[in-house]
Amino acid sequence: MSKSSRRSFIKKNILSGLFLTSAAPLLSAENALKVKPRIPTLKPNASDYNTIDWNNIREQFLFAKDYHYLNTGSLGPSPKIVLDTVCNAMEKLETSCSHGRHQIDETHEKMAKFLNVTTDEIAFTRNATEGLNIAARSLRLKKGDEIIISTHEHVGGASPWMALAKDFGAVVKLIDLDFNGENNLQIIKDSITLKTKVVAFSHITCTTGMKLPAKDIVEFCRSKNIYSCIDGAQSLGMFPIDLRDINPDFYASSGHKWLFGPKGTGVLFINKSIISEISPVFAGAYTDSKFDLNTLTIDYRHSAQREEYGTRNTPITLGIGSAIDFINTIGIDNVAKRGRELVTRFRKGVANTPEIEILTPESDLYSASMITIRIKDKDNLKLNPVLNKEKKLRMRGIYENNINGIRISFAIFNTFEEVDLLVNSLKKVIKA
Ligand SMILES: Cc1ncc(COP(=O)(O)O)c(C=O)c1O
Repeated sequence: MSKSSRRSFIKKNILSGLFLTSAAPLLSAENALKVKPRIPTLKPNASDYNTIDWNNIREQFLFAKDYHYLNTGSLGPSPKIVLDTVCNAMEKLETSCSHGRHQIDETHEKMAKFLNVTTDEIAFTRNATEGLNIAARSLRLKKGDEIIISTHEHVGGASPWMALAKDFGAVVKLIDLDFNGENNLQIIKDSITLKTKVVAFSHITCTTGMKLPAKDIVEFCRSKNIYSCIDGAQSLGMFPIDLRDINPDFYASSGHKWLFGPKGTGVLFINKSIISEISPVFAGAYTDSKFDLNTLTIDYRHSAQREEYGTRNTPITLGIGSAIDFINTIGIDNVAKRGRELVTRFRKGVANTPEIEILTPESDLYSASMITIRIKDKDNLKLNPVLNKEKKLRMRGIYENNINGIRISFAIFNTFEEVDLLVNSLKKVIKA
């Protein structure tokens, strides 16, 4: 595509609506929002939930009005402001042939603030899986060391630990979780032995959207000198997260799910209390605090950012910053509340339909904005694509752990009308 036709593509597809410039200066994620607000009816950190114009929020996304996207748990679409930031930064950096790495300092700060930790505990990655692999490999586990994971882990959450078993003889112990949510801490407590070195668990399970009592699990692990690693792929951006309060050793997440960041982004939190106990998994430019090739000297930085070795994609990292700005503009509490309201509407809608089992606990303590259902006596994995094709209801089939369910993600762009359409469509499917 020529430069001018690319510009007109961006103009038409991305920059349509509230503002537009084809000669946009490089916008930091912060300035992108300040200079050209996409959500004029909202104030930053809007506190009054009732004033939020959810239709306006939906309009910030590019997918068609009649596409009922209920699969943010797999992939979150990005709002226009994120695309603007990425496209503008990419174009501007190309004009100066630079990688612009220093510009992401601001994004580290934003992410650290979003999670209530310090900047040097935050490293950007390509996805949650990469962060979890870095965590797993940095512990240098040995033969016989035990790792606890559950049967509800995503392939990206389980594989890094399974690989340690395969490559180094560590032992992965599988536990089955309680679908009601209440007994999961006890199940973990009962599973550990003197050889347990790590408990790795999902903050929100990808199977049923169940929330685990992260703080209690971490506290228990710390009391036993066991490392805790949280797979936060499904929690970042779904509800407020205070990692200082939860205090895990590691927390890894994707930027491209509930945060609505660019695809191929992720974050890894490494607790500063363990940074000097572990070594970086990869070493390169930006890993060292001291490097001398002649004397073969290398000292590691005391920062999670030592994992951001080598040249990186600055524009997509700035896009994460923009995604955080976007969520902060709505207010993460409001985002969480909206998800719960949509879930509640759905639950009410199917309450008198015994053929629909809800596999996710109802309490706020053990669930948030994602739930999994199973239509009794049906092959749910076959039903799901039918709902997609016939009703444009996009969800995810859950085959993991033989659950045979359909997972529904309720995100900020979803509407009550969509929930009602989903309820009615499910009722029809049952009768068919
Ligand atoms: C719980 C969980 N962990 C890890 C992943 C993998 O995420 P990514 O593709 O960002 O590595 C997913 C993706 O759905 C997930 O749900």
